[in-house]
Amino acid sequence: MLRKIKDDLVDIARAAGEMMLDADPSIDHSDTKKNSSDRVTATDKAVEKMVQDRLTSTYPRFEFLGEETFKLGDKLGNMPTFVCDPIDGTLNFIHGFPNTAVSLALTIHKKPFIGVVYNPFRGDLFAAIKWQGAFLTTATGETRRLPISPVPKPLTSLNDCLVAVEWGPQREGPNWALRTSMSQQLMTSKAAGGAMVHSIRSNGSAALDFCYVAAGWIDVFWEGGCWIWDVCAGWIILEEAGGMVASANPGDWEPTLEGRLYLAVRGAKPAEQKGVVKELWDMMGERKFAY
Ligand code: IPD
Repeated sequence: MLRKIKDDLVDIARAAGEMMLDADPSIDHSDTKKNSSDRVTATDKAVEKMVQDRLTSTYPRFEFLGEETFKLGDKLGNMPTFVCDPIDGTLNFIHGFPNTAVSLALTIHKKPFIGVVYNPFRGDLFAAIKWQGAFLTTATGETRRLPISPVPKPLTSLNDCLVAVEWGPQREGPNWALRTSMSQQLMTSKAAGGAMVHSIRSNGSAALDFCYVAAGWIDVFWEGGCWIWDVCAGWIILEEAGGMVASANPGDWEPTLEGRLYLAVRGAKPAEQKGVVKELWDMMGERKFAY
C-alpha cells in the first residue's frame, strides 16, 4: 500500500513539475503574503489544486494539508494526511533560479511515512518510504540510494561542516535577530567551543536542503520558522538516508506552535550527530523563535 501511494505521489509530482516548467512566473500573478519577499504565484495555487484534486479523488478518506489552502487553526491530525508544498522555493521560481521543488508527503499519526521532493528544473527526484530507504532518481533515469557514497568524512564537529541556512520572509524582530546572530556565530568562531563552519549555503528551498543533507552534499541544515509542508517530505527522506532531524518541538507537528526550529544532520554515527546538534543547541541558548 505504501509503495502504491509513493508511486502515485511520484506521478503527481512529475505532473506538478510539468506545470512549473510550462509556467512563465514573470507573467504569473505574483501576489504577496506577509511582505514583498513572501510570494505566491498563480502556479503555486494551480499546482496545489491539481495535487489536491488528484489525491482526494484517489484517496477520499485521507486528509489534505497544503501551504496555499492552510488556514490558521488547521492542525495535523492522526488520520493519514497528505502534506503538500506545491512550490517550495517560490522566490527561486519567480527569479528562474533552478532550485525549486514540489514537496509531497504522507503522514500517519503525525509522523511522515512517505516523502517525494521533485525539482523539475534539474530533473532530481528524491523519494523515501519509511523503513525502505531513500533514493535519488536523476534526469537521466539513474536511481541511487542515499546518501550518495562515499559520504565525505566523519562528522566530528561543526568546524568541519558545510551548513545550509535559510532566511525565510521575516526581516525584523526577534526571529530575524536570531537568524542573523546564528549565521554570524556559525561563520565566525564565536560559537560555544569556538566552532567556525566551512561555509554557509542558502539555496532557497528548505525541502531541497533536507534532500541535500540526505545526499550528504550538505552536512547540516538549520532553519527557524519552517512550516510543516516545508520539512515533512524532506524529514522522512533524510531519516531514511541515516540522517537525523532535531526539532525544537520534537514529534509535535502543530503548525501554529511557536518554536518551529529544525536541525537536519547528515548520516553519520549517532554520537557524531548528537555532538553537532549539541553544538548548535548550545549556540542558540535559550533563544527561541516567537510567533
Ligand atoms: C520557503 C522556502 C525557504 C524557507 C522558508 C520557506 P516557500 O518555502 O523553503 O527556503 O526559508 O521558510 O517557507 O514559501 O517557497 O514554499
